[in-house]
Amino acid sequence: MNENYIDRITLGDCHNFLGNLDNESIDLFLSDIPYGICLDEWDVLHSNTNSALLGQSPAQIGKSGFKRRGKPINGWSQSDRNIGTEYREWCENWVAIVYPKMKKGASLFVFSGRRTVHQVINAFENTGFLLKDTLAWKKQSAHHRAQRVSIVFERRGLKEESHKWEGWRLGNLAPIFEPIAWFVKPYKIGGTITDNILENEVGAINIDECLINGSSPTNLLEFDYNINEKRIHEAQKPLSLIEFLIRLTTKQGQVVLDPFMGSGTTAVAAKQIKRHFIGFEIGTSFYQSAIKRLQEEVETDQYKSKQMRLSLFEKEEKYCANKSLKRMRKKPRTA
Ligand SMILES: C[S@@+](CC[C@H](N)C(=O)[O-])C[C@H]1O[C@@H](n2cnc3c(N)ncnc32)[C@H](O)[C@@H]1O
Repeated sequence: MNENYIDRITLGDCHNFLGNLDNESIDLFLSDIPYGICLDEWDVLHSNTNSALLGQSPAQIGKSGFKRRGKPINGWSQSDRNIGTEYREWCENWVAIVYPKMKKGASLFVFSGRRTVHQVINAFENTGFLLKDTLAWKKQSAHHRAQRVSIVFERRGLKEESHKWEGWRLGNLAPIFEPIAWFVKPYKIGGTITDNILENEVGAINIDECLINGSSPTNLLEFDYNINEKRIHEAQKPLSLIEFLIRLTTKQGQVVLDPFMGSGTTAVAAKQIKRHFIGFEIGTSFYQSAIKRLQEEVETDQYKSKQMRLSLFEKEEKYCANKSLKRMRKKPRTA
């Protein structure tokens, strides 16, 4: 039953709650799900716990950079190579619970890792959702590390090889974008999307409300954090980006579901543009920060707009009072 969860972030594992939501009640699913790249404890979604994972081996203690870099693509053991499959299975578990909760024709925006997005797409497609597009969120900057091969050889005392590999690096290009897989829940076969809009009020996109510098948006989304945006979560997304996606696909009063809330960005964005939200977060400290953020940013905002309405009302009252005063003054005195 949605009333127990609406406009609230609920603390706990979303697997325990998603099944309680009303069927075909969600207008938009928008979530920055764990990418399955071992970014932190909450992102380890496989059974293989190599002792070096997340920097837990004695050789790694105190080296946070190594912890963040995670496992090499090649893995440290044969079982590391099952990580992708296990991540897809993890996704399939909760995607299957989400499926009946979505309205027909509704959108689902799922933030993913560049190397794991295919597993997410497979999980959603295997469950019955349809992939509509893959958007790219272009970040303002990207942390880039690519070690020089020549230096590695030099440290090993291999002078000739070091010279031979001058200019070559280990690593990737600067990771400037993050993919957002855009799915839809299928509607009636034989029906049209406009029939579906009439029936379920979802399926269209509101371009006019989402113009970027006066032009239609593209699928390359360039959004950054506001100057005053507090950074609470290591994977936090810009409020303006989330607000854009909500505005694009929902009307005021519709319901947005985010089962992996983190610092509560989806909740704050939804409330700021008058949508309802349902959210879950498993980490107690993230949950507490999200609740605090929601109180500070939304309630303060609502308070501010109430104040603004009040002061407008006061101004109007003063204006009316002045006008009637003037009118009274103009009136010819009788007697
Ligand atoms: C990528 S982060 C979300 C960050 C968020 N977009 C923000 O702007 O702050 C994913 C979050 O999902 C939470 N999480 C992981 N597994 C979960 C589960 N089974 N149920 C609920 N939350 C979960 C993690 O604790 C983490 O905070």
